[in-house]
Amino acid sequence: MEVLSHFVRVSISEYFRNLPVPDSFVGFARLTGTEWLTLLPFVGTVSLLIYVTIQAFKAKPVPEDTKVNRKIQKESSKVVNMVDIEDLGDKVSYCRCWRSKKFPLCDGSHTKHNEETGDNVGPLVLKRKGAA
Ligand code: FES
Repeated sequence: MEVLSHFVRVSISEYFRNLPVPDSFVGFARLTGTEWLTLLPFVGTVSLLIYVTIQAFKAKPVPEDTKVNRKIQKESSKVVNMVDIEDLGDKVSYCRCWRSKKFPLCDGSHTKHNEETGDNVGPLVLKRKGAA
């Protein structure tokens, strides 16, 4: 702890005290090459901190790939499909990958999606008891 304390109280303060920081912006033009080299680590560190801070607060666009629904009823705030249970028939497959062109029914598009992305999604199959 003593080493750290000495480093913070003495070494760092001596480093800052010896930095050839001019009193005005015009003074930067009068710095020698050696003075610029002395300033380089400090300017680089400050620049890096500014860059990292800006990057942390910069709004990042949401990549399209993070959205499950890429194209179905995008004008709606929420996609809801109602199906009368009497209309289900003996067997029906509902899409869960959101890639079907017959949404909400499955058209097999999940196969291509799974091949392209390594995903493993598939339909919800509703089957009447005893149906094939
Ligand atoms: S097409 Fe989406 S689950 Fe089959």
